[in-house]
Amino acid sequence: MSAAFDAGNGKITVPDILRRKTILTSSSNQNSDPGRRKIVCLTAYDYPTARLVDEAGVDIVLVGDSLGMVVLGYENTLPLTMEEMLHHTRAVRRGVRKALLVADMPYGSFHGDRNEAVRNAVRFVKEAGAEAVKIEGGERRMELIAQMVEAEIPVMGHIGLTPQSMHAFGGFRVQGKTVEAADQLLRDARAVEAAGAFSVVLESIPRELAARITSELRIPTIGIGAGPECDGQVLVLHDMIGLSLGHTPKFSRRYANVGEAISHAVTAYAEDVREGRFPADAESYHLSSEVRERLLAVRRS
Ligand code: KIV
Repeated sequence: MSAAFDAGNGKITVPDILRRKTILTSSSNQNSDPGRRKIVCLTAYDYPTARLVDEAGVDIVLVGDSLGMVVLGYENTLPLTMEEMLHHTRAVRRGVRKALLVADMPYGSFHGDRNEAVRNAVRFVKEAGAEAVKIEGGERRMELIAQMVEAEIPVMGHIGLTPQSMHAFGGFRVQGKTVEAADQLLRDARAVEAAGAFSVVLESIPRELAARITSELRIPTIGIGAGPECDGQVLVLHDMIGLSLGHTPKFSRRYANVGEAISHAVTAYAEDVREGRFPADAESYHLSSEVRERLLAVRRS
């Protein structure tokens, strides 16, 4: 057994995440005990963001397929490949010490043959160090989730507005707004839990529906645009720090403006270079006086 999983060293594991739910529902006094706190999840896509997010103390680091849009510049998440996801998950692995590391399975990597999907999930664990994978879809992923759990791969479900279904949905729309759609999402949530997932992301669904799902399930719900009653919350890091260049959804709160800070820094650097203010003498290397004398003497002769 790896030292990382020794009790008491602060490493967050799948059973720790599951326990958050048990404690949340079995006690009214959530805030007095750290074990009772809401689950904090954020995305990271490379070594520095992984280190920063992990060291700030989040519970789950997700290498989301939002990577395709916010880091690689694709228009949506659909073109992202297994190799790209593995490459970035490895980088994140090198930066994460305590949080649970979850990798998103990209579009196409689990939509065909189920055995191939399990092999792809195994690659995230074996080649990239992920501790769990996330899969979009509800009822129709039941057998697949069960097969992955059978292969010892913890699975985080993801229902509601699943971006990989954008063509089927006809765009990015809040899901579960009619009685029929809400019923379907309840069935999806139950199916994901019954299949053995250890948690489920609820994306862009009405608060009341997310609260109902959260109260019914025994596994934690992690909301994104699903209201405050979920057992935890997840955001796309680049949205919350002002570094995503596209549209930012209504549910994402901005905590910093890193994009503006980068623009200011680059503009100031360019001005300093053009005006001869950079580099200054203190930012330059110097010869010893002896070598300098010699150099000058050589030039004079
Ligand atoms: O890809 C992603 O970042 C996600 C989260 C928004 C849940 O799936």
